[in-house]
Amino acid sequence: MKRIKLWDKEFEISLPYEKIQETVKRMADQMKVDLEDKSVLFVCILNGSFMFAADLMKELELPDAEISFLKLASYSGTDSTGNIKELIGFNENIQDRTVVILEDIVDTGHTIADVIAKIKAKGAKEVKIATLLFKPEALKTVIHLDYIGLEIPNDFIVGYGLDYDRRGRNLKDIYTLVK
Ligand code: IMP
Ligand code: MG
Repeated sequence: MKRIKLWDKEFEISLPYEKIQETVKRMADQMKVDLEDKSVLFVCILNGSFMFAADLMKELELPDAEISFLKLASYSGTDSTGNIKELIGFNENIQDRTVVILEDIVDTGHTIADVIAKIKAKGAKEVKIATLLFKPEALKTVIHLDYIGLEIPNDFIVGYGLDYDRRGRNLKDIYTLVK
C-alpha cells in the first residue's frame, strides 16, 4: 500500500487515479444526457475542486458550457470549523440560468448549502450539484445532490485537490488518514 506523509500525519492510498477517472467519466455520461440542450454555467468551488472540474469538463465536451470559479474556506486542519466565508466574490449574471455547482466533497454539507443559497439568491433558474465524493455519515444538513461520484467512509482524505493544511492538493490519487 502506497503511503505518504504530510506534516505530522500519514496517509495511505485509497482511491487510485484510475478509479477517480472512471468515476468522473461516469458522472460526465450521466450529466451529458441531462444538460445537452442547456446553456450551463458550471461553478467550480475552489480550491478543492480544481482537478475534478478540469477532468469533468474535458469529459463533458458540452459546446455551450461556461465555467466560473468561487473561492470559499471552511476547513482548518482536519476538523470542519463550520465558518463558511466567501473569499472571492463572483459577479456572473446568473439570472434565469442553469447553474451546476462542482464540488470536490460533501462532508457536513454546510459549504454546499451556503453556496446553493448564495447562487439561488442571485436569481438562477435551476441549481444542480455535482460532487465527486460524498461522506453520508458526516452529513448534518438537508440537501439534494444531483450527481454523486462516490460515497466514502467518514475519514479524512487528501489528494486530487483536497488538502491537509494546504498540502496534498497536487496528488493525483486520493489518500486516507492513517489513524
Ligand atoms: P462541508 O462544509 O463539511 O461539507 O465540507 C466541505 C469542504 O470541506 C469541502 O469542499 C472540502 O474542501 C473540505 N473537506 C471536507 N472533507 C474533507 C476531507 O476529508 N479532506 C479534506 N478536505 C475536506
Ligand atoms: Mg471544496
